[in-house]
Amino acid sequence: MLSPTPSSTVIVPNFLNLPHGICTANPTNIQHLLQSNFSNYVKGSRFHDVLHELLGDGIFNVDGNLWTVQRKIASHDFNTKSLRNFISDTVESGISNRLLPYLSAASLAEKPTDLQDVLQRFTFSNVLKVAFGIEVDLNEKEVDNLQFVRAFDLAVEIASSRFTSPLPLTWQLKRFLRIGCEARFADAIKVIDIYAMEIIKSREKEQENEWLGRENRDLLSRFLSLNDIVSFDDGNHKRKFLRDIIICFILAGKDSTSTALTWFFWLISAHPRVAELIYTELMSVATAAAEEEKEKEKEVFVLRYDELKNLHYLHAALSESMRLFPPLPINSRLAVEDDVLPDGTHVKRGVFRPFDQFQYPVFHGGPRICLGKEMAYVQMKSVAASILHEYEIVALDGGGTAEKMMNPPYMLSLTLKMKGGFPVKLKRRRH
Ligand code: HEM
Repeated sequence: MLSPTPSSTVIVPNFLNLPHGICTANPTNIQHLLQSNFSNYVKGSRFHDVLHELLGDGIFNVDGNLWTVQRKIASHDFNTKSLRNFISDTVESGISNRLLPYLSAASLAEKPTDLQDVLQRFTFSNVLKVAFGIEVDLNEKEVDNLQFVRAFDLAVEIASSRFTSPLPLTWQLKRFLRIGCEARFADAIKVIDIYAMEIIKSREKEQENEWLGRENRDLLSRFLSLNDIVSFDDGNHKRKFLRDIIICFILAGKDSTSTALTWFFWLISAHPRVAELIYTELMSVATAAAEEEKEKEKEVFVLRYDELKNLHYLHAALSESMRLFPPLPINSRLAVEDDVLPDGTHVKRGVFRPFDQFQYPVFHGGPRICLGKEMAYVQMKSVAASILHEYEIVALDGGGTAEKMMNPPYMLSLTLKMKGGFPVKLKRRRH
């Protein structure tokens, strides 16, 4: 849509063919709106109206002071020390104790496995552990967690469909009458609220019992001491705010990396040469890691934080796969005041929709660049390395061949999931 235009920018009409917004993939424009003129382009009322039952006042959904406070507090969890701990405490044990044993059983049974589903469960467990100190396994017995995941996925899907509704009044009316998908949305929000409140209440109880072991250990602990920075009317007001923070971080961590990994495995399944180059790189990094494993009598192959940094080809392959299938595919902003973009496009106050950021849009840019970018990379590299060291992934649909790329099986929502899951067979490698 954008490539034939002289500056990769178009005016998008609404259903009455009147100008509705601007869509751009021009890096100079993108830099202007995400960085140089940051204060003029906000999430604004449209974002907030559509997503407020789900995300409330959480970091994804607010501007101004509420955003600054959350960004500042959360930043602590994404420094190098936290990332090292994330890999050693959360990802390594998750891969060794849950992910690889599950895949090993699936490979032995020679049964097709929905790799997208497996990865989603894995990244969901990781975000619960790192942000809120909660351990889940997500097997079929964990009814509450599974019920939450289903409600969460449904709520995200319905909230995203509000964005594409040609007449916002239709979903607003359905919401008012509590009918159709809006009734299902309201039920899902109830399940989500209960789940988040349970997390908060159990943490409050720990605090009451003066159990100080977790102080400032994870994101939730840090936000629990918010009283000094944000003033709350009462305990419930504070709990509601914490609920919004929890849901935003689950949204950030749950499906983004699993979606990226799903498309990555789909693409390399159709590109054996790339898979082979990744494997060769793994083996060169693996020599030291393998020795260490032998000493510790570990059976699985999990790389350490510093070793992951040496996987340059894998890093590039993941980045290219995210360029082709950006996990957060749509990024929109509202113009506060009229403006002129660097390429001369006039922007009226109202909706603005960039599909790109500077040169590489995937993690956003400027002051609101993704906080979890490095965390996502180390997690993706760790998972991809451990799986590809052990298995060849055989996509049952043949993977991302040139022909399939003409019409890839995607599902447009807040994240770009694969439609109908990703069935694969896992062929164990002979080392
Ligand atoms: C491949 C994985 C990921 C991709 C592609 C990605 C991409 C993005 C994008 C495009 C945004 C901007 C969204 C917007 O403003 O509308 C964003 C924001 C954010 N991301 Fe990520 N993300 C990923 C993983 C993660 C992870 C694992 C976390 C943390 C657990 C995380 C935490 C955040 C946070 C907190 C924000 C909000 C930043 C702000 O508004 O200041 N992300 N991400």
